[in-house]
Amino acid sequence: MTTAAPTPRVHGVFDEATWTVTYVVHQGPGSACAVIDSVLDYDPKSGRTKTHSADRIIDYVKSNHLTVAWILETHAHADHLSAAPYLKQQLGGMTAIGNQITHVQEVFKGIFNLETEFKTDGSQFDHLLADGETFKIGELTGKVIYVPGHTPACVAYAIGDAVFVGDTLFMPDVGTARCDFPGGDARTLYASVQKLLSLPPHTRLFMCHDYPPNQREVAFETTVAEQREKNIHVHDGIAEAQFVEMRTRRDATLEMPVLILPAVQINIRAGEMPLKESNGISYVKIPLNAL
Ligand SMILES: [Fe+2]
Repeated sequence: MTTAAPTPRVHGVFDEATWTVTYVVHQGPGSACAVIDSVLDYDPKSGRTKTHSADRIIDYVKSNHLTVAWILETHAHADHLSAAPYLKQQLGGMTAIGNQITHVQEVFKGIFNLETEFKTDGSQFDHLLADGETFKIGELTGKVIYVPGHTPACVAYAIGDAVFVGDTLFMPDVGTARCDFPGGDARTLYASVQKLLSLPPHTRLFMCHDYPPNQREVAFETTVAEQREKNIHVHDGIAEAQFVEMRTRRDATLEMPVLILPAVQINIRAGEMPLKESNGISYVKIPLNAL
């Protein structure tokens, strides 16, 4: 006899400014929860941050009397700043990301010529998660699925029958994530996507982003079966070579995300700002002609 996977409650909050979905995963009021891929609002014109998006998460957690066990990242995002330190300060919980983040830290320490004290051992996070590692969220068990390709450190989180895919798959009418950031690779992403699409057909898949085309409503939940049937980039029958050719051609047309420079510098520090300088102000750098 097989036991069905538990079906956790999944609350998604869509951030209109960055097209990002933050998830709270739990088992009902009073239970433990995990927060996945939080957003700190950032205005690139003024350099100011705000906590409007994160406060929506805090309100939800508090109104459901949830205890935060984990504040998880699927990867070092290039399109928004993480609100993990703010959420941890307000709600508690352990911050975590995939253990290959150390390679991403090394690459960007070089590109941004960061201070020598900046550690590339991932110690800015409370915990680094290995492929296949399990972790507890109250009665729920989460499992790490290593899904590199978009970045070399991407992970997905399987919690009960729900999988949080990060930037691997998007909704079926949008396709897949780009692979042209440092350390990204289309062939590797194809293999990671196949890993996700080999899960049971009814597995619920939750996207990290949605970029709805043709005026459709924002959506961020689908299933393995739906992706295999309809995903415009990786539906059943699309071979690796065909995918790699499409992905490479398409990536060559994409501009860098508006927030990539500040986002990467903050997110490889687990969402912390760089050390304040002698005037009490924290700065991010702009490397010229480097990306
Ligand atoms: Fe991303």
